[in-house]
Amino acid sequence: MTDQTQFVATPSVDLSRKPFDVALISAASAAQGQIDFALTGLVGPVPDAMKYATAGGKGLRAFLAIETARLHGFHAGQSSFAAGAIEALHAYSLVHDDLPCMDDDDMRRGQPTVHKKWDEVTAVLAGDALQALAFQLVHFTGCPAEARSNLSVTLAIAAGARGMVGGQAMDIAAETADDPLTLDQIMALQTGKTGALITWSAMVGPRMAGRNIDPLGKYGDCLGLAFQIADDVLDIEGDAAEVGKAVGKDAAAGKATFVSLLGLQGAKNRAAELVAEACDALSGYGGDAETLKDAARFVIARRK
Ligand code: IPE
Ligand code: IPE
Ligand code: MG
Ligand code: MG
Ligand code: MG
Repeated sequence: MTDQTQFVATPSVDLSRKPFDVALISAASAAQGQIDFALTGLVGPVPDAMKYATAGGKGLRAFLAIETARLHGFHAGQSSFAAGAIEALHAYSLVHDDLPCMDDDDMRRGQPTVHKKWDEVTAVLAGDALQALAFQLVHFTGCPAEARSNLSVTLAIAAGARGMVGGQAMDIAAETADDPLTLDQIMALQTGKTGALITWSAMVGPRMAGRNIDPLGKYGDCLGLAFQIADDVLDIEGDAAEVGKAVGKDAAAGKATFVSLLGLQGAKNRAAELVAEACDALSGYGGDAETLKDAARFVIARRK
């Protein structure tokens, strides 16, 4: 085995702004390219399940990483490692989220979940290995060593007990809590379980460049909350075939969501306010941030 795990074929050096739909597809494919390359030659259920679990997502987090890097002068050949890292980490979070001991889901991205297609052991191990792969990939991000190390440690915090895992723990605990959560508690839950990885993705660009992370941090925080509200709304209003996963499960499981607290319309209003706040946070970037603004609008308009 060699230490050479970079996928360096024809990296794009194009720094021009693209429409959101084009940028999203190209970011998803750049992230997938890094993941698949890192898994080259591996055979067996765990690597097969890793490839399966990372395929077919929207690639929103990869997009945020690559687009915010572009805003700071880094091309996709440099940022696709961070994009692959966050998509691998996100895929791990979904594989474990779907396990019978968590949300017990059979469908993900229109396909059987990993524990249904293989078994629980494979799902646990593929998730574990995807998390490790994220830290392998982020290490190769094309920026100065200090910025790279900053990306790694902040990814660890975003993924862990102060971030995604902490939010997931609150989400599961809320199912059996005696009293409904307050708005502040739901915000803390969502900020962890969904927000932490989305905010990390949005801060990739300024972190790579060693620049002020606050505007994109604010954008990411608002976007993350709006994103999870849209996910909760889709659980009620969405069509399972279109969404690609079961719907109507949150209320049945006693999940604490913005919708459970504010009602459907109240939650949608809150999401629209958050999108406006996210866009406002980008004012310092001028017209070059239009694609990120379109991404914020997409997050609450999406049907899957
Ligand atoms: C789903 O995330 C899980 C949540 C955090 C709400 P996405 O809707 O981004 O899932 P994919 O990656 O596109 O399948
Ligand atoms: C999952 O939230 C968030 C993470 C995996 C960290 P949900 O449980 O609401 O996501 P879906 O609805 O299963 O995609
Ligand atoms: Mg869940
Ligand atoms: Mg779930
Ligand atoms: Mg959900």
